[in-house]
Amino acid sequence: MTPNQKIEQWLTTAKHSFSTAERPFVTLSYAQSLDGSIALRCDEPLALSGRQSLQLTHQLRSLHDGILVGIGTVISDNPQLTVRHWEGVNPQPIVLDSKLRMPITARLRHSPDKTCWVLTTCEGENARESESDLDHSQGLEITALEGNADGRVCLEGALKLLRQKGITSLMVEGGAAVITAFLKAQLADAIVITLVPKLVGGYKAVNDLGVSSKAALPAISPLFSSPLGDDLVVWGQLSYGDGLQ
Ligand SMILES: NC(=O)c1ccc[n+]([C@@H]2O[C@H](COP(=O)([O-])OP(=O)(O)OC[C@H]3O[C@@H](n4cnc5c(N)ncnc54)[C@H](OP(=O)(O)O)[C@@H]3O)[C@@H](O)[C@H]2O)c1
Repeated sequence: MTPNQKIEQWLTTAKHSFSTAERPFVTLSYAQSLDGSIALRCDEPLALSGRQSLQLTHQLRSLHDGILVGIGTVISDNPQLTVRHWEGVNPQPIVLDSKLRMPITARLRHSPDKTCWVLTTCEGENARESESDLDHSQGLEITALEGNADGRVCLEGALKLLRQKGITSLMVEGGAAVITAFLKAQLADAIVITLVPKLVGGYKAVNDLGVSSKAALPAISPLFSSPLGDDLVVWGQLSYGDGLQ
């Protein structure tokens, strides 16, 4: 079996055994250097993974109903979030964008077959209306949700809405703030990391999780791994100990 087949089989099983109907099954997936960097800086993309890992990313996209990124990634990378390096259906693109900062030049405004869903906070939605800036919603379906204590989109509310809208599986592709938020909220079920044999000394994938003890750290068990081109892919289901704050 190829690494791609192994990962697809594992993911299919994991998704099927997921029993909660309240929210989608959530997979975190990103490429990082051996020192944990996903970019040089937060506002600058770095094409880290090799050709085969890129294909895997697109395969993973095709295996999920939705794909979600934070507005930081949209501003930095201007991604399309479509399936181009694999055969399969494009997932529903979704962006967390509390303050409606989506650039007018964003490629996501021109998604080929699915209008990009933008999840914002009530505050952001009000700001948009008061500016009467009609361009803000061009090519987007904007939904205002409750904000969390930081004024950002509440992840629990976002996932509940996505499930109601028919998203049963969601791939979260980054960036660091969003990856960290999902881990902190214990809302990621599986993880697929492409480890690139480089040391970048850059912007790290995971930041402060507010964990008070080793036992409370998110764990991946069992951990699977396979070389893929020059990279190493590691994957598995996430579990959380007690004590995350
Ligand atoms: N190597 C990889 O696989 C990979 C993948 C993706 C991205 N990246 C890199 O990651 C970098 C961008 O990462 P980033 O950390 O700056 O941005 P990000 O995680 O993409 O987006 C963060 C932004 O999302 C918004 N947001 C809304 N609700 C949120 C919530 N509940 N929790 C967290 N964020 C929420 C916030 O902006 P508002 O407050 O305005 O809503 C926040 O600043 C870029 O350099 C990109 O190239 C790398």
